[in-house]
Amino acid sequence: MTLSELRQKYLDFFKSKGHEIIPSASLIPENDPSTLFTGSGMQPMVPYLLGEAHPLGTRLTDSQKCFRAQDIDEVGDNRHTTFFEMLGNWSLGDYFKREQIAWMYEFLTHEIGLDPKRLYVTVFRGSEKWGVPRDEETVGVWQAQFAMHGVVAEAVDFPEERGMQGGRIFYYDEKKNWWSRSGVPENMPEGEPGGPDSEMFWDFGEELKLHEASEWSDKPCHVNCDCGRFVEIGNNVFMEYIKTGDGFEKLAKQNVDFGGGLERCLAAQIDDPDIYRTNVLATIISGLEGISGKKYGESAEITRSFRIIADHIRAATFIIGDPRGVIPSNVGQGYVVRRLLRRAVREGRRLGIIEPFLAHISSVVIGLYGEHYVELETNRQRIIDEISKEEDKFAKTIEKGLKEFERMSRDHVISGAEAFILFSTYGFPLELTQELVQEAGAELDIVAFQDEFKKHQELSRTASAGAFKGGLQDHTVETTRLHTATHLLQQALRRVLGDHVAQKGSNITGERLRFDFSHGQKMTPEEIKKVEDIVNDVIKRDLPVTREEMTVDQAKASGAIGLFEQKYGDKVSVYTVGDFSKEICGGPHVTHTGELGHFKILKEEAVSAGVRRIKAAVDGN
Ligand code: ALA
Repeated sequence: MTLSELRQKYLDFFKSKGHEIIPSASLIPENDPSTLFTGSGMQPMVPYLLGEAHPLGTRLTDSQKCFRAQDIDEVGDNRHTTFFEMLGNWSLGDYFKREQIAWMYEFLTHEIGLDPKRLYVTVFRGSEKWGVPRDEETVGVWQAQFAMHGVVAEAVDFPEERGMQGGRIFYYDEKKNWWSRSGVPENMPEGEPGGPDSEMFWDFGEELKLHEASEWSDKPCHVNCDCGRFVEIGNNVFMEYIKTGDGFEKLAKQNVDFGGGLERCLAAQIDDPDIYRTNVLATIISGLEGISGKKYGESAEITRSFRIIADHIRAATFIIGDPRGVIPSNVGQGYVVRRLLRRAVREGRRLGIIEPFLAHISSVVIGLYGEHYVELETNRQRIIDEISKEEDKFAKTIEKGLKEFERMSRDHVISGAEAFILFSTYGFPLELTQELVQEAGAELDIVAFQDEFKKHQELSRTASAGAFKGGLQDHTVETTRLHTATHLLQQALRRVLGDHVAQKGSNITGERLRFDFSHGQKMTPEEIKKVEDIVNDVIKRDLPVTREEMTVDQAKASGAIGLFEQKYGDKVSVYTVGDFSKEICGGPHVTHTGELGHFKILKEEAVSAGVRRIKAAVDGN
C-alpha cells in the first residue's frame, strides 16, 4: 500500500460513517500566536471543540500537515519525523467512545488488514486529584471488539514496573493517557480543552526488542517503553473537559479528537518498523542514494544521515510551499527552515555530497505530494529558488570558514578558542572543524571550546549542549547584534509609546533590522529621537544579557513579554537585558549590550491599519 492509498482509504472510511472531508489547514497557524507551527490535527479545531458551530457539521475528517520542531533531535531513529501527516476524525458533540473505538477497530483490522493479535491499547486510569474517573467504559468497548476475533483482551494496571503481564489493554496515568495541547493537567492554562485518551500500539515483534542496547536493558518490556518494538499509531482523545481556575469542568458537549500517524499506520500495514521504508520516504531516500552513491542501511551512521536529510528537506519544502509559507531567515519560523536546510547540507557532507543537492530532492518531494497538496505545485518555483539560495549562502559561509581554518591551522592544530572564533565570527559549524582536525590526524579540544563558549554566552549547561547539537551554529555576529537590538527597540517603544506596543513581525538581515508593531499613529520625530536615546543609553551602560529556562507560567509571572509558545509542557527560554527588558525568545543574543554599535532608526512607516514598521541599524554592521 502507498501513502496516498492509505490516506484515501481513511478519508473514504470516515466519509462512509457520515463525516465531511475537510482540507488540511495551513502549517503556519492563523490567529494563534501561541505556537510557530501546526503540530496536531486538533489545533485548527480548537474553537469548534470549545463549542463554536462548524459550517460543515458535527462529523469531520482530514489529513493534517503537521510540524513538530521539538522532535528535531529525535529524527534519525526508525519512527520520528519533524513533518508528518496526522489522520484525524472529530465528533463535535455527536458520537462518543462507543462509536469511535468500534470504527477505529474496524478500520485497522478490516480496512487495512492489521492482525488484532498484534494490536495493543492504553486507557486512562483516572485521577482523584483532578476528579476524572477510571476509563472502564473504553476498556469495555475495546474488549467487545477484540472478542469478535476471539482475542481475550485482559486489562492490567501499572505495566511500567511489571511489564506486559499477559495484558492487551493497559491503564496509565495522566502523563501518558491524558491529552491537551499543553500536556498534563497541571500545565494546562485556564480555558484549554482536554481529556482522557486511548492510544493504539502496533507490535512489530518481540525480536525487535532493542533492550540490549538501551536504558531499558534490565526492565520488562511494555507498550510505552520506547524500546522500538511497539509503535504508537494513533490516539483517541475523549475531549469532554475544560480547565478552570482550580480543576476541570465538563464541556457543554462530549467531543472526540482522533489523531493517527499516517506514515506509522502505513509502516504497520506493510509490517516494517522503519517508517523510512514506506513509499514516500523511501523514494526520497533512493533519490539521495543516486546522488551520494551510498546505500541506505550500509551503516547505522549512514542510515541516520539519510533519514535526517529526507525528513528535513521534506519539512522545509512543505513550510516554504505552504499558502502562508515562510522563507529562511534568522527569526521565528524562518529560522527553523534555515536550521532544517543547513542541517541537511551538513548531513549531506557526511554522505560525501559536496555539490548542491537540496533543490533536486525538494523537487522529488513536490512530485510525490503535489497531487494531494496542490500548493506545492503552485509554489514550486518559490520553493526551489529559496532552497537553492539558502544552500548557496551556507556554501559561502562554509567556504569563508574553510579559508580561515586553513590560515589558522597552518603551523599548529587549532585550539578550542580558535574553533570558537570560527564558530562565533564566521558561523562555521563546530562539527566541520572537528572533522577537519580529525582528517589531519589530530583531535580538537572540545572542552576548551566549551569553556570559551560558556565564557561568551553565559549559557546554562543544557542550553550549550543543545547548541552543540545544532542550535546556534548558523548565526553570524551581525544578525546576533541586530537581534539583541530588536529587544531593546521593543522595550524602548513600550516606554515611549505605551504598553500597547506588541511585536507583529520581525526580520533581520546582516545590515538592518525590521520590526513591525502595533501602534495607531505615525511616530513624531521627538518620539523617534527618544527611542533612539533610550536604546543608545542601554548600549552605553553595557548591560549583561542573560538567559534562563522556565515554564510558560513562570515566564508570564516574571513579566516577560513575547510570544507564549506552548509546546507540550516544554520550557521556554527568557532573555533578560540587565534591568531593562525581559523577553521570551529562542536567541541567540550578544552577552553584553556594549557589543552593539550606535543604534539608529532609518525609517518609520505604516504597514497596515494599526501596525507600524521601523527599520534600524547599529554601527559596525
Ligand atoms: N490531538 C491528539 C494528538 O495529537 C489526537 O495526539
